[in-house]
Amino acid sequence: MNKLLMVTVLFAALLMAPSQADARDDHLYNELGGTAGIEQIVEDLLFNSIDDRRIRHHFEGVDMVRLHEKLSEQICELAGGPCVYTGDDMVKSHTGMGVTRGDFNALVEALQLAMDDNEVSVPAQNRLLARLASMYDEIVGL
Ligand code: HEM
Repeated sequence: MNKLLMVTVLFAALLMAPSQADARDDHLYNELGGTAGIEQIVEDLLFNSIDDRRIRHHFEGVDMVRLHEKLSEQICELAGGPCVYTGDDMVKSHTGMGVTRGDFNALVEALQLAMDDNEVSVPAQNRLLARLASMYDEIVGL
């Protein structure tokens, strides 16, 4: 194969190969309504959490604008969306808070309610909850 042909074939192969971004599984991200949908769900989750007497004390004095921004980024990234989480790691964020199993479950309920209100299907809800559940040990009992 002459050099020009080889370069042409290589270039064509590169063009045809799916890029990293295309290969990303963004199905869940889309089911959550994309970035705008996730931001709305997180807003509702935070309102539900401060309405819930079991966990509202954790949020007293917290910068809710930052929490909304970081949690939205994190869920977007976790769902396969085009976001990059820029917040602190889960251990650092929750150390000293004494989050219990009951608190964790209450927050999950607040999130389920938020997803119901935003018409996310139950299978999609469960896929997000399964991804969040893997962080349990980094958040509870610190
Ligand atoms: C899977 C479950 C959870 C996830 C994914 C999560 C995620 C996050 C994220 C991304 C932040 C922001 C970190 C930053 O500021 O850089 C944060 C902070 C916080 N989380 Fe969680 N969290 C979870 C569970 C909980 C629970 C169960 C509670 C209490 C009921 C809680 C209370 C808080 C509070 C109060 C802050 C703010 C800390 C501060 O700014 O001083 N989180 N969490």
